[in-house]
Amino acid sequence: MTVTIVVGTQWGDEGKGKITDLLSSDMDMVVRYQGGNNAGHTVVIGNKVFKLHLIPSGVFYNNVSCVIGNGVVIDPAVLLEEIESLKSNGHSVNNLKISSQAHVIFPYHKDLDAAQEKKHEEGRIGTTCRGIGPCYVDKYSRRGIRISDLYNQKVLRQRLEWNLNEKSFLLNNFYGTKIKYDIEEIINGYIGYSHAIKKYVIEDSSYLLSEAVSNRKNILMEGAQGTMLDVDHGTYPYVTSSSPISGGACTGAGLSPKAIDEILGVVKAYVTRVGGGPFPTEIKGSEGDKLREIGHEYGATTGRPRRCGWFDGVVMRHSAKINGLTQLVVTKLDVLDSFDTIKVCIAYKYKGKEMKEFPSDIYKLEECEPVYIELPGWKQDLSKVKDFKELPVNAVKYLDKLAEIAGCRISMISVGPERSQIIRV
Ligand code: IMP
Repeated sequence: MTVTIVVGTQWGDEGKGKITDLLSSDMDMVVRYQGGNNAGHTVVIGNKVFKLHLIPSGVFYNNVSCVIGNGVVIDPAVLLEEIESLKSNGHSVNNLKISSQAHVIFPYHKDLDAAQEKKHEEGRIGTTCRGIGPCYVDKYSRRGIRISDLYNQKVLRQRLEWNLNEKSFLLNNFYGTKIKYDIEEIINGYIGYSHAIKKYVIEDSSYLLSEAVSNRKNILMEGAQGTMLDVDHGTYPYVTSSSPISGGACTGAGLSPKAIDEILGVVKAYVTRVGGGPFPTEIKGSEGDKLREIGHEYGATTGRPRRCGWFDGVVMRHSAKINGLTQLVVTKLDVLDSFDTIKVCIAYKYKGKEMKEFPSDIYKLEECEPVYIELPGWKQDLSKVKDFKELPVNAVKYLDKLAEIAGCRISMISVGPERSQIIRV
């Protein structure tokens, strides 16, 4: 039995979808514990490309239970769309389980997300505008509506009335929109969704997890986004509103910390970021464009071009420490195939002083300059390499450097989007 947490170690989009999909074949249960449909996991099976936003990647295996934990925020329309698309492609979703404690995204969450982004032109976070942040705000201000509330019409109406009054006032009087909500329409729509998802709803994901742990099952906790987008440990305020780090798996699904065996950090061989916020190793200009084009670095959820940069060792150290990584999986190594030399940031320089720790204050971070070492490229196509021994010596040296910085072993290397393009170490 093993309980493994998969986390993104950078700003998301590290390729966790492919890795969780690969690991899922040996799992009994795969669990999402935070975020919502701001995430976009791409899984390539044969000539089909699947983009999952809410449903755990384990859904492609019939014997794997796929759990959406209490820490996730759910847009039921998106969830149903995903369920239908999987079904129409011949994939069963019978093993899907949704915690009744998960919070629900309503139209006013999306409207607030968009209005806030528009209003705060300067310092815009660059959210996915899926209503994720406003939904978590309601959760923590104890005004949220949970999946279980959709089955209690009195509570649903009461909570919606309160929320619609407050949100309409805010949207129209502060954010200057002219939005009108029809409570009956919303209630009817969401009751419709609640019927459609009823067969998947479970009371509490913590019961399922503790039972699975007691029965010595293999469990995979699938983090969305990445460590640097963590609301506490990331580049606040340019972060998401949940805890993508390994600790988030305990609160976001009701997993006992004592049950955790492995914490696997997924790291891209270079770095990308979507949205605003500091990014010390960002490459501006043609080299950055080259990385974006070779790596197809466009958002799986929004299609936005991702900002690209060199591997950041300071971020890696921070991530390894916060998450307690036990293994590293390096993805997209093949994207670096054509570079003559590859830079690795090993420290930051701040006011003339070298620092190895990630600064918690982003205003300090904005003034940090990356300190690079330069490693020779391998100038060879890695996309067909299956065995670690076949890797060119310069690729091995590059990987050794990443592992040394992270302070943990590399267990897998991904060299392309297909399930088969993986080197197990
Ligand atoms: P939100 O999660 O939509 O509120 O967006 C907050 C920040 O997190 C923005 O910079 C988004 O671009 C970023 N973000 C959210 N989800 C993802 C993801 O799955 N991958 C990468 N960035 C993300």
